[in-house]
Amino acid sequence: MKQDELKKAVGWAALKYIKFNTIIGIGTGSTVSYFINALGSIKEKIIGVVSSSKNSSIQLKKVGIPIYNFNNIDNLDVYIDSADEIDKYMQMIKGGGGALTQEKILAFAAKQFICIIDSSKQVDILGRGPLPVEVIPMARSLVAKELIRLGGLPEYRYGVVTDNGNSILDVHNMNIINASLLEERINNIPGVVSVGIFAHRKADVVLISTKNGIKVLN
Ligand code: A5P
Repeated sequence: MKQDELKKAVGWAALKYIKFNTIIGIGTGSTVSYFINALGSIKEKIIGVVSSSKNSSIQLKKVGIPIYNFNNIDNLDVYIDSADEIDKYMQMIKGGGGALTQEKILAFAAKQFICIIDSSKQVDILGRGPLPVEVIPMARSLVAKELIRLGGLPEYRYGVVTDNGNSILDVHNMNIINASLLEERINNIPGVVSVGIFAHRKADVVLISTKNGIKVLN
């Protein structure tokens, strides 16, 4: 099975977690894109969604799913999103698509975080790829210096402006032994909006798409 077929399969498998008359948080990325198409097929069942990015909102509108302003919502039942990397503790790295801050807000708010991945996203230790950090543009250089002090090699994602008007630093070679501690340390650097480590708010359920079907971790 090709990777896209695995992503599609797990997108459709996530429908099982959608309850009647609820509002759902929607992540961002190619795997979520398959989930949005699947959700369109049962859109009468839900009240609507809160979106984590402009890209997801565009697709949600095309499919005809009502989008709510997060500030008017008391109750997010589930948050459905993918990850760039996930370990056996269900800690993740996210933000490859640049939408990490709004993703983190919705993940924090939701009662349940369902992470949908294909098996290529599983890692023994986080940090196989770069770690995205969203920064306030005027603090980019200061944050980069601090990230070097923490052992990483930050690279400015040229030409990218996030949905919040900020910049992204992709940090290479970061040694992520204690993901939770590193998440706190990076969050504490002034100018950091958010870091792509999701260790404090981990996934509650992980659906892993493999060539032999969907595996569930919880
Ligand atoms: C978006 O900013 C990311 O957090 C994505 O959720 C993550 O990169 C996974 O995306 P794909 O499903 O495209 O691999």
